Amino acid sequence: MDKTLIVYYSLFQNTENLALEIAIQTGGTLRELIPDQAYSFDYNTASKEVRNQISRGYCPKLISGSESIDDYKTIFIGTPNWFKTIAPPVLSFLRQHDFKGKTIAPFCTHGGGGFGQIENDIAKECPKAIILPGFAANGIAASADVGNWLEKIGYGS
Ligand SMILES: Cc1cc2nc3c(=O)[nH]c(=O)nc-3n(C[C@H](O)[C@H](O)[C@H](O)COP(=O)(O)O)c2cc1C
Repeated sequence: MDKTLIVYYSLFQNTENLALEIAIQTGGTLRELIPDQAYSFDYNTASKEVRNQISRGYCPKLISGSESIDDYKTIFIGTPNWFKTIAPPVLSFLRQHDFKGKTIAPFCTHGGGGFGQIENDIAKECPKAIILPGFAANGIAASADVGNWLEKIGYGS
C-alpha cells in the first residue's frame, strides 16, 4: 500500500524522460498513459486536436495505464503543459480513479509557461488527495534539480 507509482503522458518524450528520472531516483513503478488515438507529431495538427479536446473536456479512452492504483500510496502524475493545462489522457486517468487517501506529486514539462493551471487542475480533479508541491521543467530536467525536489517533498535518499 505504501508503494510509489509514476504515471505520465508524453508526446515528444520530455515528460517521459522526467518520469524515468523520477522512477530511477525513487525506485517507483513507471506507468505510461496511452490514448486510443495517438496525437500527431506535427505541432499544428496536434494543436488543433488538443485545443478542440481541451475545450470539450474530452477524456480519451486509455489503451494502457488505467489499471488499478490500489497498491500505491504516492502517485507522481506527469504531463506536458498543453495550453496551460493537463493533456487529455491525464484527465482520463484522474477521472477514472478515486484518490482518497493518496498523495499526489505533480510534475510537468513545458516550453516556458511553467505549470500554468496544471497543479490547480489536478487538485480540482482530486479533492480527496493530498497534493505535494510539484516540479516543472522547461524541456529537459537536470537530474540534480529532480533530486532536490524529491528531497524537499520527503523522498531524499
Ligand atoms: C499542443 C501543444 C500545446 C502546448 N502548449 C504549451 C503551453 O501552453 N505552454 C508551454 O509552456 N508549453 C506548451 N507546449 C510545449 C510543451 O509543453 C513542451 O514542449 C513539453 O516539454 C512537451 O512534453 P512531451 O515531450 O512530453 O510531449 C505545447 C506543446 C504542444 C504540442
